[in-house]
Amino acid sequence: MTGATRSVARSTALSMALRIGAAIATGTAAGAAGAVELPTPAAAREQLAQDGVPTEVVTVLEPHLARKGRMPEVRYVGFPADAALAKLLGPDWNAAGRELEFRALDGFVSRIPVERFAQHRAWLVIAREDGRPFQVDNHLQGEQQVPLGPFYLVWDNRRSKALQAEGGALWPYQVGAVSSGPSSTRALLPGGLARRYGAAADLARTNCLSCHRIRGYGGDKMPLDLDVAVKGFDAAAWRRWLLTPSAVRPGTTMPPLAEGRSEADRAAMAQQLYDYLRALPAR
Ligand code: HEC
Repeated sequence: MTGATRSVARSTALSMALRIGAAIATGTAAGAAGAVELPTPAAAREQLAQDGVPTEVVTVLEPHLARKGRMPEVRYVGFPADAALAKLLGPDWNAAGRELEFRALDGFVSRIPVERFAQHRAWLVIAREDGRPFQVDNHLQGEQQVPLGPFYLVWDNRRSKALQAEGGALWPYQVGAVSSGPSSTRALLPGGLARRYGAAADLARTNCLSCHRIRGYGGDKMPLDLDVAVKGFDAAAWRRWLLTPSAVRPGTTMPPLAEGRSEADRAAMAQQLYDYLRALPAR
């Protein structure tokens, strides 16, 4: 199914879906609490305006349109994420130690620790300000005219070099449901695994687990268990795959690891992931 058809199916499903505040149960490896299906953007606009959360215009450097590390400015219309999430998930949405799961219809999942919303401003956007189609060409994944709606999470990255270097890994689009659950630390650092792998687990969460899994925890877009898959690679082949996937497999939609970082950093990140994944005990 193309992205366009998918999003049409999505909005029909959404118009039948539950209103703000209603919850459905989901089961994930991390034991997430209920997931809230988002209303249509039009319904959200009406409901949130009544609740005193009007839309705003926000300017960001669009990582999905990056070319050679340069990102164009794009103006979007949307809701401040903290106010909207408080309405959607309830006042405890950002209780310490929790993480939010943004789920797209195609199984892409972004898990974001709530602390990040205290550090950086974010918006759930629903349209471009200039009225042009609400879509991007995702050069990194070789996908054209990818619809962003119904909801797209964007970050105020104009003054943050750190956010700019991260790229679009934590900018989930086509978001249809959000849930709040306990942190994934226990799944990613199972008993006995040295705390020194904490940084590598964070790297995996940010860069890999939107599509893949570790010990069953992660996204459904390409539900491969990395702790198992890593066994088929030596360190050099692993690095080559992560840093230049399309050189290894032309036409692949797997994005290269952390494109905004230096080659030395990227190689070190690949090695860190390799060591961590190989250290994980078999399930
Ligand atoms: C946007 C989704 C996405 C992200 C993020 C992603 N991958 Fe992938 N990955 C894929 C897809 C799609 C494939 C299937 C490759 C193909 O045949 O095109 C794949 C395949 C793989 C494979 C199997 C390769 C083989 O030869 O069997 C490994 C290992 C892998 N990815 C590791 C990673 C790691 C490690 C990360 C994080 C640094 C990562 N991926 C991030 C989409 C993704």
